[in-house]
Amino acid sequence: MLKSMDALVALAKRRGFVYPSSEIYGGFESTWDYGPLGAELVRNVKEAWWREVVTARSDVVGLNAAVLMSPSVWQASGHLENFSDPLVECFNCNARLRQDHLADGVCPNCGGPVSEARNFNTMFKTFVGPLEDEAAVAYLRPETAQAIFVNFRNVTSTSRLRLPFGIAQIGKAFRNEITTGNFIFRTREFEQMELEYFCYPGEDQQWFEYWLDRRQRWYHDLGVAEADLRVRHHDEDELSHYSHGTSDLEFRFPFGWDELEGVARRSDYDLSAHQSASRTKLTLFDEARGEHVTPWVVEPSAGVDRCVLAFLSSAYREDEVPNTKGGTDSRTLLALDPRLAPYKAAVLPLIKREPLQDLAARIHDQLRYQWAVYYDESGAIGRRYRRQDEIGTPYCITVDFESLEDDCVTVRDRDTLVQDRVPVKEIYAFLGERLAWRPPS
Ligand code: GAP
Repeated sequence: MLKSMDALVALAKRRGFVYPSSEIYGGFESTWDYGPLGAELVRNVKEAWWREVVTARSDVVGLNAAVLMSPSVWQASGHLENFSDPLVECFNCNARLRQDHLADGVCPNCGGPVSEARNFNTMFKTFVGPLEDEAAVAYLRPETAQAIFVNFRNVTSTSRLRLPFGIAQIGKAFRNEITTGNFIFRTREFEQMELEYFCYPGEDQQWFEYWLDRRQRWYHDLGVAEADLRVRHHDEDELSHYSHGTSDLEFRFPFGWDELEGVARRSDYDLSAHQSASRTKLTLFDEARGEHVTPWVVEPSAGVDRCVLAFLSSAYREDEVPNTKGGTDSRTLLALDPRLAPYKAAVLPLIKREPLQDLAARIHDQLRYQWAVYYDESGAIGRRYRRQDEIGTPYCITVDFESLEDDCVTVRDRDTLVQDRVPVKEIYAFLGERLAWRPPS
């Protein structure tokens, strides 16, 4: 397990996972950009979630809605009134701080006394169109969930869904957080993976338990250790305005335990609020019961960026491996689940010379349309292995002189260092078997 964040932040920058945003202008306010490897990892995390929550189920459908919505949505949902954090100001150094994040009620920067708290609404405001007046005000969504509720009628009338069922969405969300920090943990622009699971009124407790369990299994299946994930139930005074029961899945980040995902019981709060504000029926006719039902909702809501941080933290290792001179080399390793790894394999000709290069290039071409596969022919083979270990590539496929004789390659496993001799014609199936998506056990 990773002890401090510094090593991970350095690796992320060095190898192209995460860069500070606008870096050539000195960076921008805890904003981060995913580089070539980070972009692949993010894609894989979202793919893993979508497969688990949508593709593999017959009771959940997906949605991809706009970030900008009518301001009436936020009025009705209660966000305009309630989506706020308690803001205090330090009398000494003028720092603006979140009261509920202060350890002992004084400024963490200078120890000075702080003001009374006032509610600060964390929705980002913008203007739509050329006029910057009240009528043009719009908000960047602080959660993706509302787009699901306001599309409830559209989705249920175009999909054949019966209770219980879910609507899922992955997308950007924005919060003007008073304080940010801990790398990509708390930022103002982030991505959410949210499922609104609709059930019969009063049956939410069983679905709440179901999703809490299911979501934990998903994390464990993708490499989060049992000891690094725990459930924390919210006290009454912590609950969001829409929730009547929330549990966080907390991960042991390098800076301590903190929220990775929330699972909330939202009852019919949102559908009822939009139904009365929009005067649009947001009920379902339940044939089995012969009545109209306003479903209740259970919502597992995860942050993509926090998942990336949790998977990277869980995968980070430093160890010693034997080298070709009979000694050992120290290596940094990302033991990412192969399904999450940015590159699934690297194809390496033992030396930079024909016909090894030619065979390696042919293998690379055979694989690259299906998976992200790296080709590297420069430097000593040991150094090339270390490079792949550090970015989490699970398999290194080496083409050597023997390959020209027996049409086999050596496949080196990143974690066990075991080297298998595999016929070139079986490489595709070899990877396919190991990279296949499967349900969590
Ligand atoms: N729709 C419910 C909802 O938005 P939330 O607990 O406020 O609930 C859900 O957010 C998840 O979104 C969190 O568990 C976290 O993973 C992610 N998240 C929230 N605020 C974030 C921020 N400022 N930076 C990064 N991720 C954030």
